Amino acid sequence: MTDQRVVELFDEFMELTKDFIIRHGLRYEDYAAVTQYLIRVSEAGEWPLWMDNFLEATVDTTSYGDGPWTPSAIEGPYYKPGAPLLSRQPYTLPMRPDETGDKMLFRATVHNPAGEPLSAAVVDVWHATDKGLYSFIDAGMPEDFILRARVPVDENGSTEFRSIRPAPYEIPKDGPTGDLLNSVLGRHTWRPAHLHFRITAEGYKPLVTQLYFDGDPYLDSDCAEGVKQGLIIPLGKTEADGESWTLGQFAFVLQPQ
Ligand SMILES: [Fe+2]
Repeated sequence: MTDQRVVELFDEFMELTKDFIIRHGLRYEDYAAVTQYLIRVSEAGEWPLWMDNFLEATVDTTSYGDGPWTPSAIEGPYYKPGAPLLSRQPYTLPMRPDETGDKMLFRATVHNPAGEPLSAAVVDVWHATDKGLYSFIDAGMPEDFILRARVPVDENGSTEFRSIRPAPYEIPKDGPTGDLLNSVLGRHTWRPAHLHFRITAEGYKPLVTQLYFDGDPYLDSDCAEGVKQGLIIPLGKTEADGESWTLGQFAFVLQPQ
């Protein structure tokens, strides 16, 4: 049984590709170079990385839709479902005992477009260390939910969690994806520092987004093109428990289902 939509999409994709070959007069040596490159990406197991880096941002723009709610952003390849649901306040993301980095306190609210608090929302957050590394992903990081957790909100849709400030990071650069960005295209493999969120509440579309920080050197040249203006926040300072903390805040608005 054929899926008519797949047939139509495939046919159109091939037509566009053939037109492209003709328009640019591509020859056998170009064809061989592309084929070899595609094989390298396969052999390196980099297709998820390649797709997320070059195409996910476009799929994101056609998926969540614009409206009176928080813009979505790419999920990226590093999300892990099943992070621990925090229950003891003050909520603190799991860390290694010797976790380094600026202490960061993050305050969030979750509302619907009418301004009503979504008290049953869960804020699933994950981010890199102050060296730009992710748990489960980077060699040397534990296979454990480090700097990853699900945070509940209160009856006002408010919550607050403690963590450390993540650093900008480079996507893997030693394989064919990094090679293309660095050597062939003359770009770079950096992403600006960010916090990843996946916010869910019954009756609302899950919001997958990221927040970036004012002043980051890679905001205008994110290799994954994931930055949106409405997702850049200023970082402030606050006091808690007699200590100074970097403060981030954001009011999330979810899209009704
Ligand atoms: Fe990330």
